[in-house]
Amino acid sequence: MSFTSNLEWRYATKKFDLNKKVSTIDLEKVLEAIRLAPTSYGLQAFHLHVIENTPKNLETLRKLKSASWEQAQIDSCSHLLVFSARTDFAKSIDEYFTLLSGANQEARERLSAYEDLVMGSLPRMNVEWSKKQTYLALGFALAAAAELQIDSCPMEGFDHEKFHEILGLPENLVVSAIMPLGYRAEDEKVRTKTRFKKEDLITMI
Ligand SMILES: Cc1cc2nc3c(=O)[nH]c(=O)nc-3n(C[C@H](O)[C@H](O)[C@H](O)COP(=O)(O)O)c2cc1C
Repeated sequence: MSFTSNLEWRYATKKFDLNKKVSTIDLEKVLEAIRLAPTSYGLQAFHLHVIENTPKNLETLRKLKSASWEQAQIDSCSHLLVFSARTDFAKSIDEYFTLLSGANQEARERLSAYEDLVMGSLPRMNVEWSKKQTYLALGFALAAAAELQIDSCPMEGFDHEKFHEILGLPENLVVSAIMPLGYRAEDEKVRTKTRFKKEDLITMI
């Protein structure tokens, strides 16, 4: 199927088939799409947690479900992806320049003008900014899943603070969005697309 047909095929899945697991190979492809997503300055100021639906994680998934108004996706999916925005921006910049310079002091010095420029944006970096990065990564993940004919659902209908607490996340993370992955349940009603017409949505100039 073409890229567009796969986007037409995908829909926000409400209930997954508990018996169908996303393979490690396919999961890795979705995770790689997230890793390759573009971000502001390339800083990748976000973190992803992947919760596999295993007996070990069932209790956690049930708690997360109850913090998500009992939405069935949470504990019926194969894997739950939790996107968090980072808030420790100076550390994020430092890590990025360590990576970019290959942890080489001389190379880092050669990059100092650019590093100063990025550091100059530090006062404008806030959690809304880093959350935007997570949504772009989420978009890449949705498209990658569709390409692999894996069902998914973008979600922000949950108690973000409770998620943070249940998962015991560190201070520098703010939960932003989640994305369950799996295969649609047999009794799941496939949702048809409701979209504005191209001419109502897009203006060519
Ligand atoms: C940011 C965002 C948050 C969403 N949150 C939820 C959610 O909490 N629960 C849910 O069932 N669907 C959620 N959706 C799915 C949308 O309702 C759905 O994508 C939209 O109606 C378009 O339908 P389609 O994805 O099936 O084409 C969310 C979608 C986005 C993009």
